Amino acid sequence: MNIIPAENYNDLSQKAAKFIIEFVQSKPDAVLGLATGGTPEGTYKYMVEDFNHNKTSYQNVRTVNLDEYVGLPVENPNSYHAYMYNHLFKHIDVPEGGCHIPNGMAEDLDAECKRYDQLISSLGGVDLQLLGIGHNGHIGFNEPGTSFEKRTHTVELTRTTRRANARYFDSLDEVPTHALTMGIKAIMESRQILLIASGKDKAEAMRRLIKEENISEDFPASSLQAHSHVTIIADREALSLAYNYERRA
Ligand code: PGA
Repeated sequence: MNIIPAENYNDLSQKAAKFIIEFVQSKPDAVLGLATGGTPEGTYKYMVEDFNHNKTSYQNVRTVNLDEYVGLPVENPNSYHAYMYNHLFKHIDVPEGGCHIPNGMAEDLDAECKRYDQLISSLGGVDLQLLGIGHNGHIGFNEPGTSFEKRTHTVELTRTTRRANARYFDSLDEVPTHALTMGIKAIMESRQILLIASGKDKAEAMRRLIKEENISEDFPASSLQAHSHVTIIADREALSLAYNYERRA
């Protein structure tokens, strides 16, 4: 895994945006796998800033998002549809029809998962997958214990994850109990992966990801150790237990 250390959240956001922008510049028809959550907000902000100043075009880019809550309509500001539209899609020139997110309102969730898998393969797979990491090592919404063989599937969210995401809702009770997520199998098939992490509360997860060589379904992010093209961009706090800034070890 290639580690790019950042000083703080702003620095990490700039570095991650630069990474994605350069990727798109070198492959203007890239399929980007995108993520939601607090961490990518700054990355998207700098991508938008670059679009406004440098006009990096996303006209031929297609995007597939990792996950979506079950039961939140797209108009709900906490849906990942709304998140992506508000933080990125409405600000750049990516065509609306080229942006894909699982439909958490589908009547038949199993059929929706199959449709999403077929869509990803019809696009030729993901060229660059952006990931955050949960405190429990989840990637996408693949919680500990999820089989690494799964493709898109419905998950029941753990209490830790619901609590971590409750900050966006009025109360914990309002956080959906289920979500649709791309599986580890599909994430691992991405040609490149960029994982971003910020803050002290991610330090232990980053230690397990970087320092432990034990690939286990108990810690979903450990699957990435078997991927040959992973870049991690994280800040000093997130890397505090995993990386020696002084030695750049
Ligand atoms: P966060 O979430 O960016 O909001 O910390 C990351 C994740 O849970 O994958």
